[in-house]
Amino acid sequence: KSLSVKCVLISRKRGIPPPDDTVEDFLELISYWEPLTLTQFLEKFALYMPAIVGDRDAVRRIAYEFVEMKAKEGVIYVEVRYSPHLLANCKVHPVPWGRKEGDLTLDEVVHLVNQGLQDGEKDFIIKARSILCCMRHMPSWSLEVVELCKKYQNNTVVAIDLAGDELLVSETFPEHRKAYEEAERCGIHRTVHAGEVGPPSVIKEAINVLKTEQIGHGYHVLEDPALYRELLSRKMHFEIMTNSTCLLCSVLTGACGPDFRKHPVIQFRKDKANYSLNSDGPLSLNSTIETGYRIAKQFLDFTEEEGNINAAQSSFLPEKEKKELLSKLYEAYGMVPNNPS
Ligand SMILES: *[C@@H]1O[C@H](CO)[C@@H](O)[C@H](O)[C@H]1NC(C)=O
Ligand SMILES: *[C@@H]1O[C@H](CO)[C@@H](O)[C@H](O)[C@H]1NC(C)=O
Ligand SMILES: *[C@@H]1O[C@H](CO)[C@@H](O)[C@H](O)[C@H]1NC(C)=O
Repeated sequence: KSLSVKCVLISRKRGIPPPDDTVEDFLELISYWEPLTLTQFLEKFALYMPAIVGDRDAVRRIAYEFVEMKAKEGVIYVEVRYSPHLLANCKVHPVPWGRKEGDLTLDEVVHLVNQGLQDGEKDFIIKARSILCCMRHMPSWSLEVVELCKKYQNNTVVAIDLAGDELLVSETFPEHRKAYEEAERCGIHRTVHAGEVGPPSVIKEAINVLKTEQIGHGYHVLEDPALYRELLSRKMHFEIMTNSTCLLCSVLTGACGPDFRKHPVIQFRKDKANYSLNSDGPLSLNSTIETGYRIAKQFLDFTEEEGNINAAQSSFLPEKEKKELLSKLYEAYGMVPNNPS
């Protein structure tokens, strides 16, 4: 919420009229309460991103306030993902969101986000890391993304991701593959949005071609039982987003009705798949990780402890820091670790 208030203020400051008069109207416009297609969901970004692109203060401040927001939700470690290209306006082709060429480079975007995250870490005493996204429809950006990952590898950036609309682009371009190969070579962790709306073949590609370590969403894996069995046996980690794809919105609106009971996460849980619950697009869904957990508890008999331990185990922190994070959680929950090695 604070993000969108900020957007209105920032866009006023920059002389870009926000689409509606008040903060509430604006929030209304960018949030949604009924299931949208992924394309519609992504279109929401176009309503506020133009106000932020190329604005140094805004980029840094949003990163900082993101950490503040997470700390208030009780989060102790967060990995936040974004596309640097969608915030820069210098040497990015095309300049995103229909904006004009300016002087904020990709490199500076990552630097500013890092500063915002690090200032937030100090002030709110939590840990924040970032994941840089390649975009499916812009293969020409991917090699630049991996170079940024390399440059900032030990400076808040922990992984590379591939995001965007799986249905718009059905093939994995060679540039994405090259970027992921380079990431693997350089010890940069890899995750891919796959199988959120796309077919199982997108998941297969993510694993076989991009050599991803984790799958973002992955729900459509259930349509390919052989692939699903293989991934279960490999303990492949699925990053389930609690709010973008119908887990939250179906409850809110009842629109998915009985479908909600068939949400893939229910199957994942039954089959002891390796997954974690994550929050996605908290701004458009006006929700927090807590909302997701509450619903998962209510409908899935899911416990916060198991969720958080799985999430920490699949974090992209270096081993030593991961152990520290896990021992904090075990301590907080009064649990004895399964595997205290
Ligand atoms: C967002 O959520 C808060 C708290 O649940 C609620 O008070 C507010 O009205 C919501 N905003 C919108 C735009 O729905
Ligand atoms: C980051 O740390 C790893 C492991 O400590 C090291 O191998 C790598 O060279 C470092 N990368 C940079 C860019 O400093
Ligand atoms: C789940 O996946 C993560 C990330 O790949 C891994 O670290 C963890 O050990 C896996 N959990 C289990 C129970 O296999």
